[in-house]
Amino acid sequence: MTTMKSDWHNSIFGIDCIEGMDTLLPEHSIDVIVTSPPYNIGIEYNSYNDNRPFEEYLSWIGLMVKSCHRVLKDTGSFFFNLGDRPSDEFRSLTIAKKVAESFKLQNTIHWVKSIAIPEKNLNIGHYKPVNSKRFLNNSHEYIFHFTKDRSVALDKLAIGVPYGDKSNIGRWKHAQQDLRGRGNQWFIPYETVKEKKLHPAMFPVKLPEMCIKLHGLDKNKPLVILDPFMGSGSTAIASKKLHCIFVGFEIDPKYLALAKEALK
Ligand SMILES: C[S@@+](CC[C@H](N)C(=O)[O-])C[C@H]1O[C@@H](n2cnc3c(N)ncnc32)[C@H](O)[C@@H]1O
Repeated sequence: MTTMKSDWHNSIFGIDCIEGMDTLLPEHSIDVIVTSPPYNIGIEYNSYNDNRPFEEYLSWIGLMVKSCHRVLKDTGSFFFNLGDRPSDEFRSLTIAKKVAESFKLQNTIHWVKSIAIPEKNLNIGHYKPVNSKRFLNNSHEYIFHFTKDRSVALDKLAIGVPYGDKSNIGRWKHAQQDLRGRGNQWFIPYETVKEKKLHPAMFPVKLPEMCIKLHGLDKNKPLVILDPFMGSGSTAIASKKLHCIFVGFEIDPKYLALAKEALK
């Protein structure tokens, strides 16, 4: 694989992501953005204040997304992960509508963190307990897949699953192997953490890995992947695993050091 090496390739910068995107990244230089911004639900980060007035937070998301739009290629994908408080179920959708002022929503994916199917003797995954008689445990988050014009062709079988009913193999022109599209419910459990969590809001590395694969890898050229909110480095690790180039920003020195260490 060959590509022109730029000095910002395979780097995580310890600066604000809007400043970083606007000053360091050329227009149309990114193939895929995978990110999880702070959700503004009072998570206790090391330094970031996750409890801003909602309108202020929303305007900031709008500015950040405009910077993403400038650096993303017209053929690119922007995977935007958001979670809610169980008592505030429209929050993610309100934020997604803000993003939709700059991008078009091509797919809505549900990241399922925990599922119980007693009929199959199955009860797997973790979720945050909720201390309420009214609200259910929130065992999913959104991954909104935004593109510039809703016409990005995806590699669905790259994250495909075997057919449950094998008699479907060969039944249709597109069903020539034991692999079908996974759909928009992605079960990705957290690994059980026994020690103290190093970052309070990590996503599993498998999440960015699946997003990048779904967008589609290019055999001839490594994709360039951006995460404006790199946190512990999950997107960079996934990119490296898939032989892609990564770039990202993380404003907190403690998490930046964590991400750099994880990448080693
Ligand atoms: C939800 S976490 C991302 C977690 C990441 N996906 C992972 O798996 O570790 C959001 C991160 O954004 C960082 N952050 C907040 N404001 C930022 C800004 N303006 N620029 C860059 N990073 C920022 C926070 O310090 C936090 O680590």
